Amino acid sequence: MQGAQRLDKIHESQTLAITAKAAALKRQGIKVLSLSAGEPDFDTPAYIQEAAFDAIRAGYTHYTPNNGLPELKDAIVKKFREENGIDFKPEEILVSNGGKHSIANFFFAVLNPGDEVIIPAPYWVSYPEMVKLAEGVPVILPAGWETNFKISPDQLKKAITSKTRVLVLNSPSNPTGSVYTPDEIRALCQVAVDHEILVLSDEIYEHLIFDGTPHFCPASVPEFKPWVFVVNGVSKSFAMTGWRIGYLAGNKTIIDGAAKIQSQMTSNACSVSQKAAVEAISKGVGPLNYMFKEFEKRRKFVFESMSAMPYVNLKAPGGAFYVFPDLSRIIGKSYKGAPVTTINQFCEILISDFRIAAVPGDAFGAPLSLRISYATSMEVLEDAMTQFKSALESLE
Ligand SMILES: Cc1ncc(COP(=O)(O)O)c(C=O)c1O
Repeated sequence: MQGAQRLDKIHESQTLAITAKAAALKRQGIKVLSLSAGEPDFDTPAYIQEAAFDAIRAGYTHYTPNNGLPELKDAIVKKFREENGIDFKPEEILVSNGGKHSIANFFFAVLNPGDEVIIPAPYWVSYPEMVKLAEGVPVILPAGWETNFKISPDQLKKAITSKTRVLVLNSPSNPTGSVYTPDEIRALCQVAVDHEILVLSDEIYEHLIFDGTPHFCPASVPEFKPWVFVVNGVSKSFAMTGWRIGYLAGNKTIIDGAAKIQSQMTSNACSVSQKAAVEAISKGVGPLNYMFKEFEKRRKFVFESMSAMPYVNLKAPGGAFYVFPDLSRIIGKSYKGAPVTTINQFCEILISDFRIAAVPGDAFGAPLSLRISYATSMEVLEDAMTQFKSALESLE
C-alpha cells in the first residue's frame, strides 16, 4: 500500500529516536532524566479544572460555533486590550485546537503554491513542515548563538524575494529561549511591512519571560497591525497543553479563510476546554505566579551549571523553558576512542551512557546545538547537570 506523495515532502519528528530509546530504558527499570518535554510539568490549576466540570454539568457538551464560543472570544479580546494594548474585534479571532492548529490554519489560508515563508532558525519543528503541507516553500534564515539566535533586519532584507509572503517570528523562542526586544521586533516588522509581507507572530510563550525584556506584540503598532497575525493559546501560560485551545488574531478576511478551512477539517475546538479557557484567560496569569517563579529558579540553575561546563557556548535564555547550548566545540573530540562527528551522535551517547534525554538541534534546523527543557523537577535537573558535565568531561 502506497501513501500520498505529500507524505514524502515532510519529516516525522526527529525527536522520536531519542524518545523511543528513553522509553526502552525506562522499561528496563532505568531512571531516565528526561529533558525533552515541551510542556509545563505542572497540572492545570484547580480553579480552571472546576470551570470545566461546571461546563459539563451546565450542558456544554455540544458543538459550539466553529470560530469559538462568544464568551471565549470576548475574553481574548479583553486580554489583547489589557495585556497588549491592541483592539481586536471578536470577528478578527479564530479559536482552534491548540496554537499548532491555529498556525496550520493560517498557512493554509494565506499560501499559494510556491509562496515563500521566511523562518528564522533555530525554529519550532512544525513551521517548515506545515508550510510544505500548504504547498509553500520554507526559506530558512539561520542565526547562531553569537547573536543569541536572533536574525537582523539586514539578513531579513536579503532573504526577501518577489515570492515572499510571510515572515515567522517566535518570541520567546522554542527552542532557544531567546527573546527579541521591542525595538528588534519593530525593526524586523518594518522591513516586512515595507515589503508587504505578512508577519506570523507566535507568542505562545508570552508569559514566560525571565530577563525583564517586556513582551511586545507587533500588532500593537497601528502601521503594522493589518499585516500581523498573532498566535497564542493557553497551553504554556496556564499549564493546559492537553486541553488543546489556541487562537489566531488578525485581518478578518484571512481569519474567515482560516475558519473556512477549520470548518471542513475539525469544526470547533472542544466545548469543555473552551469554557476552561474562558476561566483561565479572564483571570489572567496572576494565579500562575508560583509556576513562573519555579521556572525562573530552574532557569538560573541550569544556565549557571551549563555555563561552567567545558565546550559549552551559551548566552542566558530570556524566556520559554529551554536552554539551547551550542556544542560545536565537541565535534572532532572522541568518546571511548570513537570520534564524535554530530550532535545527534552525542545525544545518543547522553541517553545510552548518561541517562539524559535531550533533543538534538538538528530537529530545529541547528545541528550544532541541543535543546534542554527545564520544565521538570529541580531534583531531576540537579542529577541531569551532574551527568551532563560528566559526559562532556569524558570527551578526549
Ligand atoms: C513555538 C510554539 N508554537 C506553538 C506551539 C503549539 O502549542 P499548542 O498547540 O499546544 O497550543 C508550541 C508547542 O510546543 C510551540 O513551542
